Amino acid sequence: MNDAVDTTSLPNEDALTEAGSEHLFIHASAHRALANDAGKRILVEGDGALVKDIEGKEYIDGLAGLWLVNAGHGRQEIADAYSRQAGKLAYASSTQATSIPAIELATRLAELTPGDQATAFFCSGGSEAVESAIKIARQYHYFNSEPKRSKIVGRRGSYHGATYGAMSVSGTRPMSEPYHSPFMHGVLHASPPYCYRCDFRHSFPGCDLLCADQIEQIIKYENPKTVAAVIAEPISASGGIVIPPKGYWTRLREICDRHGVLLITDEVINGFGRTGRMFASEHWDLVGDIMTVAKGLASGYAPIGAVMCRPHVVEAFEGKNKLSHLLTYGGHAAACAAALANLEVFEREGLVANSQAMGARLKEGLEGLSHHPSVGEVRGQGLLVGLELVKDPDSKEKFADDGAELETFGEALAERGLLTRVDSVLPLSPPLCITAEQIDRMVAIIDDSLTAMETAHDLG
Ligand SMILES: Cc1ncc(COP(=O)(O)O)c(C=O)c1O
Repeated sequence: MNDAVDTTSLPNEDALTEAGSEHLFIHASAHRALANDAGKRILVEGDGALVKDIEGKEYIDGLAGLWLVNAGHGRQEIADAYSRQAGKLAYASSTQATSIPAIELATRLAELTPGDQATAFFCSGGSEAVESAIKIARQYHYFNSEPKRSKIVGRRGSYHGATYGAMSVSGTRPMSEPYHSPFMHGVLHASPPYCYRCDFRHSFPGCDLLCADQIEQIIKYENPKTVAAVIAEPISASGGIVIPPKGYWTRLREICDRHGVLLITDEVINGFGRTGRMFASEHWDLVGDIMTVAKGLASGYAPIGAVMCRPHVVEAFEGKNKLSHLLTYGGHAAACAAALANLEVFEREGLVANSQAMGARLKEGLEGLSHHPSVGEVRGQGLLVGLELVKDPDSKEKFADDGAELETFGEALAERGLLTRVDSVLPLSPPLCITAEQIDRMVAIIDDSLTAMETAHDLG
């Protein structure tokens, strides 16, 4: 990245802010957020794990954009792959034809994804992948002469997207309830495997995985013949970097198999090296019947997602049994070319192994901050790391999401050059190409920012 952004070549910053505030509706924000919310910035360039804003201030991108720029910023070769394909053939109809990059990417994914997940349905992002997975699961049962199997079981705290079906199966939906209910019919939610704040006030292993068994209770109570699928992220990021205890995934896989319920593993955040393996499922030898991916698939260089299906799933769609679902942008040729180039970078630079090594370094560094009274727990797998902040480590009382403490903390982080989202569980997921020096810088910034928050609010 250049030492200083050449502001002479950029439009005037004030004019841009004014235009952006007037004409750009920033997601999950109030109108004119660009002018009013100090957390919003205009970013102009990036290099690896670093980004620079229009004022020339450099930050470590602590969330890889929004958990997706896994290969890092400024990768000319991914941009070139997109551009070459767009110049030749940007698009082939997703329903009457396909393209060479779409076939090549589907084949590459069949090689990389867990077990026998061998067939890819392409779409443009994570929410679409989840919508598609739900529809594929329901149609699978219909074609297998079980048309009543339509219900979906999700988990509290999980996030699966913002479109209607994905929002409905998300365990974060109470936040949208005032505006968007009634939700999709036939969705149930179970407890997450969140040992630090167990819904049952049990502890592992004495609990004997009651949270997994609760899913079976729900399925039985509803009548298994009405349940289509269970959807869950192998490690829930939105739930607070919730890493399930040993045995959880084996138990849940068995429960789904016992009742003929499909298991949809949502690897939209987990996938593509984020957890130190190509897919988080690999940590537990888990193979979902259907798996959703997006984000790191093209590291943000193109909007693309996919639904990976195992043979028994796609075999239900044969002869006259057609998939009743299509998306114009599914299998976009240039997006597929970008994804292929992204996966080449992964392989050549060993990004999955770097995620494992840098994640361990980050976790160790954060564990060294336990003297701070506001540090509750550090959790992480690869570069999917969370620092749970608490008002009081004994009672585990949480900070209010919109409270003054987290506001001070967020300002302190940004001032010192670390961008992330500030929640009571601080998510830390930088690009997988991050260096050891940058990881140590992240830890030092967090250390100083915790001190700033604790001093300003008289904590501990
Ligand atoms: C696990 C999971 N699934 C699905 C989605 C939705 O993806 P998108 O925002 O690309 O629609 C997200 C987004 O963060 C996610 O975390």
